[in-house]
Amino acid sequence: MRIVLGVGGGIAAYKAASLLRLFTEAGHDVTVIPTDASTRFVGVATWEALSGHPVSNSVFDDVHTVNHVRLGHEAELIVVAPATADLLARAATGQANDLLTNTLLMAGGPVLMAPAMHTEMWRHQATQANVETLRSRGITVLEPDSGRLTGADSGPGRLPEPAAIFAAAMALAESSGIPGGPERAAASGPAGPTASGPAPLAGIRVTISAGGTREPLDPVRFLGNRSSGKQGVALAAAARDAGANVRLLAAHMDVPAPEGVDVVRVETALELRQAALRASAESDVIIMAAAVADFRPAETSATKIKKRDDTADPVISLVRNPDILKELVEVRDTASRNQLIVGFAAETGDADGGVLEYAEAKLRRKGCDLLVVNQVGRDEVFGQDTNSVVILARSGSEPQEASGSKSDVAAAVIDRVSAELSRVQPPG
Ligand SMILES: Cc1cc2nc3c(=O)[nH]c(=O)nc-3n(C[C@H](O)[C@H](O)[C@H](O)COP(=O)(O)O)c2cc1C
Repeated sequence: MRIVLGVGGGIAAYKAASLLRLFTEAGHDVTVIPTDASTRFVGVATWEALSGHPVSNSVFDDVHTVNHVRLGHEAELIVVAPATADLLARAATGQANDLLTNTLLMAGGPVLMAPAMHTEMWRHQATQANVETLRSRGITVLEPDSGRLTGADSGPGRLPEPAAIFAAAMALAESSGIPGGPERAAASGPAGPTASGPAPLAGIRVTISAGGTREPLDPVRFLGNRSSGKQGVALAAAARDAGANVRLLAAHMDVPAPEGVDVVRVETALELRQAALRASAESDVIIMAAAVADFRPAETSATKIKKRDDTADPVISLVRNPDILKELVEVRDTASRNQLIVGFAAETGDADGGVLEYAEAKLRRKGCDLLVVNQVGRDEVFGQDTNSVVILARSGSEPQEASGSKSDVAAAVIDRVSAELSRVQPPG
């Protein structure tokens, strides 16, 4: 795919070099257009060396090729990172005072902008109005990350990580139906080498749910379960270590979320459902490892239910919670989305059937791609540091066993996820 990478004059310009590497290593042909201000941060030589193309920001260079017209027409995707407040304003008002803004006006394909600036600049009404204008014209403007900014301050305004911008760009290309764009966003993508070997999930967006939901009876009481969140947290850490861009949907957990993942806190099954459906459109892989309550109290009292001698024993009636895993599969299939969905089953055997029999039936019922099955009992699995699972696949391949620490099991599941992704979309 032919990509134009516009680089604005912000301190995060250096991160665009990593983004450029992700694009080129995934086989894309990238022309960089830095603004004049950005060359005060990163020089033209860096962009020329990394992209393998000459670099300019003037409409008056190579006039015979009419650079801005050619680049605007040829680019199948334009990514601007970092997009400064100034660039957002210039693009929103249709200015054409350098090569990048000229090219943006000529663009025939999708455009993605990744803003980065101080929180005050980002929140300023002028910037927000410019973002709204750009979005209303079909330009994808990413939300900046929150965190440490240039000085000692922190807040929303950080450039999203290069892997996240890469993944968003690939998803945009895919949804725009660009020939040569990724079938599954970068499943064959930039498995960039790391100190410990290749990063098999580089550029892949993985959403993982963890912990146990709590279904409130009143402001102080709830129906919960024994899930500690350890397995989900280990999965999030393993996916992060494999290079993925990880979002953790965290229900109640006894352990902290790992560093380096986005955390969305949820309490109830309904909140988890909403967060999962919202994340679905931006996920290449979804792993539902949370213990979700099958039922919730039909009514939640707004005040504490009182213990009074003169009333009868209270009766709790329950209603069924939605089947989130099944819904995610239905949404994926309806939207014809390339997405790998992994379910977890905590099963117990009984007189009518064994654990695996119940799990196989569950896999068929839910339609997910992989089902990780463990046998639970009062002292097994929940809260423990070890686990023993069987991974069942919808493709019908042999069940795969994995056991050891929850980190060992997480690594086996993430390996299997990588293998499934490359099986669907072999590298090269
Ligand atoms: C050290 C330094 C850091 C800056 N960082 C940012 C930034 O992160 N975001 C931003 O919008 N502007 C930032 N600016 C201001 C821009 O460089 C300035 O608005 C410039 O005109 C942007 O030009 P451009 O949009 O053509 O790249 C920074 C300026 C300096 C001196």
